[in-house]
Amino acid sequence: MARIFISYLLLLISVLSEVYSATCPDGFEGSLSDPDKCYLFVSIPKNWFDANQYCTTNANNLVSIHSRGENLNVLATVTASATIDRCDSKNFWIGGNDLTGKGTLTWTDGQRWDYNNFNATQGQPHYQINGCVSSQITRPVSSSCWKIESANNLNCFVCEYYISSGTLTTTPTPTTTPITSCATGWTNSISNSNKSFCLVTTKATWFNALLYCQNIAAQGTLATISNAFDQSQLNSIVFEHQAPCFDNWIGANDINQLGTFQWSDGQPLVYTNWAPGQPDLNNRCTAAQLQTNGQWTTEPCGVDNCFVCQKYTA
Ligand SMILES: *[C@@H]1O[C@H](CO)[C@@H](O)[C@H](O)[C@H]1NC(C)=O
Ligand SMILES: *[C@@H]1O[C@H](CO)[C@@H](O)[C@H](O)[C@H]1NC(C)=O
Repeated sequence: MARIFISYLLLLISVLSEVYSATCPDGFEGSLSDPDKCYLFVSIPKNWFDANQYCTTNANNLVSIHSRGENLNVLATVTASATIDRCDSKNFWIGGNDLTGKGTLTWTDGQRWDYNNFNATQGQPHYQINGCVSSQITRPVSSSCWKIESANNLNCFVCEYYISSGTLTTTPTPTTTPITSCATGWTNSISNSNKSFCLVTTKATWFNALLYCQNIAAQGTLATISNAFDQSQLNSIVFEHQAPCFDNWIGANDINQLGTFQWSDGQPLVYTNWAPGQPDLNNRCTAAQLQTNGQWTTEPCGVDNCFVCQKYTA
């Protein structure tokens, strides 16, 4: 009994020492508030979406911040960086955003929204225009506050990495996602011989759906419905494959400018097929009811829906 206990104790000690000897990968700074957490300051200005994609590819997520101490910790990491002068703006992106529903702030890593550093004197949080949270870099850093700004702005950013999450993926592999996971395969658009559609019957948030489409093909993006032919073709793809989702993400969104919808390939909306009462400007992403009349409704971008990708073949 005693021997079993002692060997158990030895095992426990070796496991514990392994935990405590775990360190952050090169280039990352250890968090003072969480021994498992590391920060990576990236001094490459990117829009919020590209910054988010960079973090999910090279770390875990854009950073989430849960206390005043952690906020100062992140600011110290940023201001200590030797490459901070590569960032033109005086703000850096963190993982906060209200893309999932106007006025409802969430972290991209799914952790609780339990702390914020908005300054009401600066009129923050100011939801009307944009969806993503940046932190100012002022000196002293104790007077740096957060604000909401256009996801389109170019800022440096901070990613987070949890040591216990396992190996770090350092090689982006955007082209290796098997196209077979696109349930229908690619179908040529009947209205534009350069364009193909593919229905994905796995549910994802609008933003993850967009990333998925971008990754399965060069010039891949969420579907642009350019005319009534595209619309009826998508309805028939869903019908033919008895696809499971009532709502399917398409590329239309007003993330860049409230009330001004555009396609995820940057085209303005010419043809539209809004359901009555739509678009509801409380939500910024658009789903088409492809099992029925195909009409479009806006939904919170964080909802999980099936989605339609497109690619240009020429
Ligand atoms: C809030 O912002 C105002 C105006 O910029 C500033 O004077 C004040 O110090 C800030 N408060 C905090 C707590 O940072
Ligand atoms: C297809 O792509 C080619 C080359 O980019 C372009 O010249 C042509 O106009 C496109 N056709 C359609 C129908 O968009």
